[in-house]
Amino acid sequence: MIYEDLKDKRVLVTGSSSGIGAATAAAFARQGSFVGVHYFRTQAGGEQTLAEVIKHAKGCLLKADMREEAQVEKLIADFVRAAGGLDVLINNAGTLLGRVNIEGMDLKHFEDELATNVRSTFLATKHALDSLKKSRGCIVNVGSVAGHQGGGGGSGIYAAAKGAVHTMTIAMAKEFGGYGIRVNTVVPGLIETRFHEKFSTPERKKKVAAETPLGRNGTAEDIAKAILFLASNDAANFITGESLAVNGGLYMRA
Ligand SMILES: NC(=O)c1ccc[n+]([C@@H]2O[C@H](COP(=O)([O-])OP(=O)(O)OC[C@H]3O[C@@H](n4cnc5c(N)ncnc54)[C@H](OP(=O)(O)O)[C@@H]3O)[C@@H](O)[C@H]2O)c1
Repeated sequence: MIYEDLKDKRVLVTGSSSGIGAATAAAFARQGSFVGVHYFRTQAGGEQTLAEVIKHAKGCLLKADMREEAQVEKLIADFVRAAGGLDVLINNAGTLLGRVNIEGMDLKHFEDELATNVRSTFLATKHALDSLKKSRGCIVNVGSVAGHQGGGGGSGIYAAAKGAVHTMTIAMAKEFGGYGIRVNTVVPGLIETRFHEKFSTPERKKKVAAETPLGRNGTAEDIAKAILFLASNDAANFITGESLAVNGGLYMRA
């Protein structure tokens, strides 16, 4: 265990059927948290994550399309019923929907990219807020290095969506600070998950690793550790509105 205060915390990790979310759910379970594992299309992945969670702690499995308000509202209500409340919301569900340049992108694709990454974060936060007020809990959003540098190779609107997540984090931190709720973003660089199995060739991944000062791409566990840090009041009690880059130095800001 790293953070004693995460024991028995009630944690919902959206998009935990795969990659960063799956590693994060398992990491919270190892701290003794009650973990809500969420999936949309990948039920087998959700079941696998839950099996890992219950080796260490309690948990439950929930399904929702995070773009749809009624489904998100039900997801949060079902989690709160199962766990007895909500202390930590990890807004991780999201993805690049395809490599398409802005010049050739139709409105439907544009809107879906925003719904998948920005609307999802807004909706989960909106419906979790009453519970988080009661627990004086916290939120960790998942942004992207693309949100800092504009992406590349047909990921421009995904990058813009993640930039909106970064800015929305600051707005939420300002608005919810009075409720004792901290809100931060973890900002991954290139992380080896299903995401880049789909959208990057092995050559591209190799090239990025070579350009990264620490000489490798990241793992889902690298991000999970940063999320635990931001979620722990012992570790991060006075940190809010922050974007924590976890990218091996791929993109650095002063
Ligand atoms: N990998 C990277 O290099 C990287 C870099 C920066 C940021 N990120 C961000 O990190 C987060 C996790 O990505 P990952 O790398 O772990 O990718 P991943 O392995 O593909 O996982 C994506 C997760 O998001 C869920 N999801 C996608 N669309 C959804 C929707 N409409 N409703 C509900 N759930 C949805 C998926 O659920 P189902 O499969 O069950 O549908 C899955 O659990 C994403 O927000 C991504 O943008 C990743």
